[in-house]
Amino acid sequence: MPLPIIEPFRIKSVEPLRRTTREERREILRQAKYNLFNVHARDVLIDLLTDSGTAAMSNRQWAALMLGDESYAGSESYYRLKAAVDRLTGLPHLVPTHQGRAAEKILFQLLGGPGKVFLSNTFFDTTRANIEFTGAVAVDCVAPEAADLEREAPFKGNIDLGKMAAMLAEHAGRVAACILTVTNNSAGGQPVSLQNIRDARALLDRHGIPLYLDACRFAENAYFIKLREPGHADRSALEIAREMFSRVAGATFSGKKDALANMGGFLALRDGSLAEKARNLLTITEGFPTYGGMSGRDLDAMAAGLEEVLDEDYLEYRIASTAWTARGIKAKGVPIVNPPGGHAVYVDATAWLDHLAPEQLPGQALVNGLYEHYGIRTVEIGTVMFGKRDPATGALIPAARDLVRFAIPRRVYTQTHMEYVVEAMGELGAIRRSLPGYRAVTLPDFLPHFTAEFAPIA
Ligand code: F0G
Repeated sequence: MPLPIIEPFRIKSVEPLRRTTREERREILRQAKYNLFNVHARDVLIDLLTDSGTAAMSNRQWAALMLGDESYAGSESYYRLKAAVDRLTGLPHLVPTHQGRAAEKILFQLLGGPGKVFLSNTFFDTTRANIEFTGAVAVDCVAPEAADLEREAPFKGNIDLGKMAAMLAEHAGRVAACILTVTNNSAGGQPVSLQNIRDARALLDRHGIPLYLDACRFAENAYFIKLREPGHADRSALEIAREMFSRVAGATFSGKKDALANMGGFLALRDGSLAEKARNLLTITEGFPTYGGMSGRDLDAMAAGLEEVLDEDYLEYRIASTAWTARGIKAKGVPIVNPPGGHAVYVDATAWLDHLAPEQLPGQALVNGLYEHYGIRTVEIGTVMFGKRDPATGALIPAARDLVRFAIPRRVYTQTHMEYVVEAMGELGAIRRSLPGYRAVTLPDFLPHFTAEFAPIA
């Protein structure tokens, strides 16, 4: 047996977990209107709702908090973050924001508007919402192999260059930008290859259209490139990440993912005049340009995290531990997205809960069943999250399939916690056909999954 890849840290401070009974959880679910976003976190045993803002910070990051400079203007913390972002991205203009979607709001307010079209491998839901909110249209062009959940292709997050070319022709003169989401969260957390980034850029250059990164999980993506893309094995994750950023006009970033921070984000831009407009918008809603909606200590935690996340012992453990969980769940006979992505395991709820029709929201059924029986919180990525509605009836239009994401917070859970999740899926498998379907009772227009209310179908 080879030695296992271990968690490359030891634990200095712990946060107790609280156990609840199945009876209690049944009542909690009812009161939460069968939407786990409404459940109190203290009522969750293992929280795989998101990998966003849920990382355990290192001793170095906690120490960095004490160095936070809370000056309104010219904070030292800003300049430390600026140095970290410069070193990583080479993008000269840093606009700090309180989280990723605030950067998106600013960028798309500047680039979007009615009549405009944006292309992506797959837009994350807040990104799409921020684009559509300006009146523009967001078109996903993900590589076709992403739809084949079984296929073990290395870069299923790629943008489909053929579809992109077709969209550029169809919407000639109206495409404002292309945004590559790395890794591709909504398509299984799959990486995008460096070649795909280069090719997308070359194609866009011919049309004079800028390329941006939604860089939330840039480090995981860079490490996948190192592992899987020929010619990059001997490069450092930092070098690869730098090349990714070197190809783009800018990036939106959520520090809540690959900056190992609990809050924060930024917009980084190459073009100074666009950055100036962005700073003007920033000042109206987020704050002065040297803090942009964050406290100085949060800027420092992000600056430290941006360096730590590229530690290759960390990245090796991160990718290996997600793959370990995926293998375990798959070995229980559960259909998952293959190969597993960097930050999460995605289960095909539509296939697994084959007693439910797509209209009965199998993703919601799995999420609620897993919580009721085992206290594990996951999230649906499907019919509810995408929120496509029939204009005539207002009813949800079923997604091609409902995935359920088991997002793994960074440095938080041990292998035993994940073993509990694996065994829970095994047990749930035996009774899965007894899980009820759901119908939506109330549905807001934007980002419906956060606040929708549901009822089980008797
Ligand atoms: N882009 C991607 C690819 C994301 O995954 C997220 C957030 C954002 C943008 C927005 O960043 O939350 O800082 O405003 N994803 C979280 C998730 C919420 O659970 O996947 P934010």
